[in-house]
Parts: sequence; C-alpha cells; structure tokens
Amino acid sequence: MRGIAAGPLVLGLETSCDETAAAVVSADDRILGHVILSQDMHEVYGGVVPELAARAHLQKVDVVVDRALHEAGVSLDDIDVFGVTAGPGLIGALLVGVCWTKAVAYGLGRPWVPVHHMEAHLFAPSLEEPEAEPPFIALLVSGGHTLLLHATEWGVYRMLGRTRDDAAGEAFDKVAKLLGLPYPGGPAIERIAATGDASRHRLPRPMLRRNQRPDDPDFYDFSFSGLKTAVVEVARSLEDAGALAGERAHVAAAFQDAAVDVLVAKTMRAVEQTGCKRVVLGGGVSVNQVLRARMRAGVEKGARGRVCFASPRLSLDNGAMVARTARFRFDRGEAASFQASAAADLAFPGLVEGSRTPAARRV
Ligand code: KG4
Ligand code: ZN
Repeated sequence: MRGIAAGPLVLGLETSCDETAAAVVSADDRILGHVILSQDMHEVYGGVVPELAARAHLQKVDVVVDRALHEAGVSLDDIDVFGVTAGPGLIGALLVGVCWTKAVAYGLGRPWVPVHHMEAHLFAPSLEEPEAEPPFIALLVSGGHTLLLHATEWGVYRMLGRTRDDAAGEAFDKVAKLLGLPYPGGPAIERIAATGDASRHRLPRPMLRRNQRPDDPDFYDFSFSGLKTAVVEVARSLEDAGALAGERAHVAAAFQDAAVDVLVAKTMRAVEQTGCKRVVLGGGVSVNQVLRARMRAGVEKGARGRVCFASPRLSLDNGAMVARTARFRFDRGEAASFQASAAADLAFPGLVEGSRTPAARRV
C-alpha cells in the first residue's frame, strides 16, 4: 500500500458484454492493476451469445479480480469502493458483475457504486489525457451505442444525438460478417480496408444532408442500418457477378469511409453549433485510426480545436474506466443500496433538458 495516494482505492469491474475486466485505480487516477480477459468462444458464432457470455464471466470473474489485485500489490481488504458496470448491456452478463460486487462489498462492509457503461467510456480518456476534461463534445461509439453529447461538466450532459437503429460498432460487425471477416468486425474491416480503394463503390451517408438545420430532429442523429443494407446490395450484385472476393477490400474501405464521414460530420456540427472546440472520442470504434485521423483533420485543422482519445486498452471495454467513474459518483455521495441491481437498458445519467434521450432511470 506504500506510495498510493490518499483517498479511496477503487476496484472497477466490467462484465456487460464479452470482456471480463477488472482494474484497481488510486485516488490520483493511477492504474495500479489492469486485467482484460476477452471471450473468444463467440467468434465461431459471428457475434456474442448472451448465455455463453454470462457463464464465462461467472467462471472468470474471481481470477480476473485476483490478477488485478496482485498486479496492484493490494488485497481485496484494501479496496475502499467497489465500482461495477450496472448497465446497459446483456442482463445475464451484467448480473454476474453486479452480484459479485454486491456480495463482496457487503461482506467487507464497503460501499458499491453502479456505473453506466457509456459514462465510463466518457471518463476513459481522462485517465491518460489531462485535457480530456469538460467542457467537451463527446462522440461515444461502441458495439451497442452511438451517442453525441455536450458535457458542460462531469455529470452534466446534453445528449445531442444518438443512433436510431444499429450502433456504429454493430454496423462494422455486421458488414464484416457479410464480407466473411472474423468477429469483432471493426479491427478486421479496418485492416482489410487499408488495402482497398474507397472510391470504387458509392455508398450513402445516412441522415447527412446539406440543408439540415440544427432544430431538425435528424441534425445530430445517426442511422447505420440503411448503410448496412446498401453494403448487402453491393455485395449481392458482386457475388452474382462472381467478383466479391476480389472486391472485398474495396467494399470494406467504402463502408468505413461512409461511416467515418457521418461520424465526423455530425461531431463537427456539434463543435460549430456549441462553440465547444474540445472533442473526446470514446468506445471501441474510437480505436479506428481512420476515424481518429479524420476527426483530427476536421477539429484540429478545420476548427483549431483539440481531439482527445484513450489508448486502445482504455478505449475498448475495461475495468479502469469503471473504477474512475465509480470514484466520481462515490465522491458525489452516490453509493447504492444493496437492493439496487443491474438494468439492461439503463438510461444515461445526468442528462439536462433538451437532451435527445429519455431522462435517466436510477438503478
Ligand atoms: O466499447 P466496446 O469495446 O464494447 C461495447 O461497449 O460494445 O466496443 C466494441 C465495438 C465492436 O463493435 C468492435 O467491432 C468495434 O468496437 N471496434 C472497432 C475497432 N475496434 C473495435 N470498430 C472500428 N474500427 C476498429 N479498429
Ligand atoms: Zn463498451
């Protein structure tokens, strides 16, 4: 325990999807222990199987936590606050983390703090990047969510836009499956797209038109299912012509180009409309180098602003972002009762009036 900053030592646990992850974070944001165990058995199914995910979390949660504690050089008894992702996510998977956390916290007589998975993605860059502090515009892009928001301070968010159907990561995963690429699709698409020519196939930019106005409901919203259908049509006609194999890289590049175009354009709209020139990127899709580069070109060169994002280990699902968010909520007195539980559709916390999603539901 020597050398650890005064203040609560937090264990963050993440089991909302297919990563079992735990991290120990000190009060001065040092990540003392950090373990992520990815479940690879979903690959053969081309997507996450909820029941298998929950069972795998149950089998691995103890060992993942033990390794994180060992790395940190602390014991369970040294933990002051237990943070855990309580939603949104797969309910069976979430319940493993939440039940584990409640049982251990209860046994040790310590507080537990339920964390919203996407707010955790919002906090992740701040663990590495001092400038990733509000006010900022955030684009959160993961396998289940696509959110554009204006954070005026931690815990106070105006939701500007969100996807109306598929999430950005989901679109990468589905297009990858269609092209015969492995799961998760994002890294596979990015890899093959690097060898392709995006201009060989024309794909739509859904919900992006020049004449949209800020009070139009789709000004900031996203839609990716139409883009996916457009890829299905292109792939089908190429297949009929026996040309799909040779065109895969070009189709992947065209899809990535269209998805990134929309994500950057909507974020730039938020920068222009709010005058807030700092942009934070979070969630698994934010690992994408093309998205990062194009966001930088738009925000830093175009608007003379700043783009912040985390390294891949903190952009993808991890326990450190959960611990960081739990400490923020704990400092505000938000430890939960032992009656509270997980919720698959937990609403984003701290939304102010005028937000594009319903008001937050408490766990
Ligand atoms: O945040 P995350 O780890 O888990 C969820 O909360 O869903 O995000 C996972 C998503 C997957 O859909 C995956 O395909 C996508 O992030 N992803 C990427 C890349 N790496 C992961 N998408 C595009 N490019 C990447 N390099
Ligand atoms: Zn995530």
